[in-house]
Amino acid sequence: MTIKKGDVLSKVLINELVAEGKSISRLDNLVLFTAYTAPEDVVDVQITLKKKNYLEGKVVQLHHPSPYRTEPVCSYFTLCGGCKWQHVQYPTQLHYKEKQVSDTLDRIGKIKLPPLSPIIGSDATYQYRNKLDFTFSNKRWLYRDEIADLTTNTNGLGFHLPGRFDKVIDIQECHLQAEPSNSIRNWIKSYALDKNLDFYNVKEHSGLLRNLIIRTTSTGEVMVIFQFQYKSKEMLLLLESFSKAFPNTNSIIYFINNKKNDTFHDLEPYVYAGLPYITESMEGLQFRIGPKSFYQTNSAQAYVLYQQVRQLAGLSGTEIVYDLYTGTGTIASFIARQAKYVIGIEYVEAAIEDAKANAELNHLSNISFYAGDMKDILTESFLSHHPRPDVIITDPPRAGMHENVVRTLLTIGAPKIVYVSCNVSTQARDLQLLDEKYKVVSVQPVDMFPQTAHVENIVLLELK
Ligand SMILES: C[S@@+](CC[C@H](N)C(=O)[O-])C[C@H]1O[C@@H](n2cnc3c(N)ncnc32)[C@H](O)[C@@H]1O
Repeated sequence: MTIKKGDVLSKVLINELVAEGKSISRLDNLVLFTAYTAPEDVVDVQITLKKKNYLEGKVVQLHHPSPYRTEPVCSYFTLCGGCKWQHVQYPTQLHYKEKQVSDTLDRIGKIKLPPLSPIIGSDATYQYRNKLDFTFSNKRWLYRDEIADLTTNTNGLGFHLPGRFDKVIDIQECHLQAEPSNSIRNWIKSYALDKNLDFYNVKEHSGLLRNLIIRTTSTGEVMVIFQFQYKSKEMLLLLESFSKAFPNTNSIIYFINNKKNDTFHDLEPYVYAGLPYITESMEGLQFRIGPKSFYQTNSAQAYVLYQQVRQLAGLSGTEIVYDLYTGTGTIASFIARQAKYVIGIEYVEAAIEDAKANAELNHLSNISFYAGDMKDILTESFLSHHPRPDVIITDPPRAGMHENVVRTLLTIGAPKIVYVSCNVSTQARDLQLLDEKYKVVSVQPVDMFPQTAHVENIVLLELK
């Protein structure tokens, strides 16, 4: 039977969960992708896309629900696009994350692998994030009944609809960050609605209120970051009222951003109240987090991840360790007490400034940090001026390592490489290149983001 777009396939069995929050069903000679389904669901699916080797479709009827389903907690489930696996029980999510790691390493890496260590799940499956980023919009996403009602207020504060830069879903409750996150966001929105403040219009590039970021720490500190398009009396009144309503906020920061995009890495932060940073703590170490600083978004699982990294690195106190893509130097600081000397490299200069400040704060004198693009910094010349590494820890962005960086790692030939990755596909590609000299000794997935399809994976490599 030839299948066309628009056809409805009846009683399709969902086989498994795969990357990007999708599920697959294996039909005769095709694979069908659906979303918001669970393994062993039986569903009717309307085809929305037909390609040579695969189909995509949307579920029009659920006949038999999977035994692995659970009730999603969030009222924006399927609309917001943030937590696509909420309808799946957590042990099943973990099972498929583990499978995603082993399948991807097999399919793309095509290298010899040891048995996978069981994935380490997160104790907190909700309220695990320490940072959420909300957008103000004067043209929020409207529900059907709201469209018909001409008195609907179209201002909103929340998350972008997936793939829609111009549409924001107004959020009353997000389950990803603990209180006071929801209270703070809802207070600010009510105040803004009450005082008739202008919410941003992205198409016209108009409106005072642009963006709100709430950052928290496991020690209970809170930072609130506002982005306004321009400075005004209303803005100062909002800040004053907010600081009175939430007097325990440790840091209130604002940026004036009249650019077309809402990134603020190139803008000056103004401290309205409190300190210019909040302080996270891990194993007695202190990490100061400024408004522009990167910090792993699941603090508790970051600790688990770093413990695994340190254990796999097998440090005895005599090793020279390179921490590549060090960010604000958290891994470097975390392992420094078990190493002889640590060198951290990262291309964001502000992050390197934070890394240096944090090392100083923690009285770690056996670390140095260098800012620059990895492929330009980690060169033969760098190696001839610095002690050669016994262990290399590498934690690149989703794109993985630049091919030249992988080649340099092969030339360096450190006895051990610990490769941390948030994207197993690019990790698998890099491992294939490293296979020239290295064997994979251990594979340890860690779940940093419950309710999503994302998975973090640590691989230990040793010279063959
Ligand atoms: C996944 S994060 C690593 C975070 C850090 N290891 C931690 O646990 O906090 C990747 C880091 O690589 C940095 N980065 C991305 N591309 C880079 C490049 N070409 N050269 C150096 N650093 C880069 C990013 O700025 C980011 O801080």
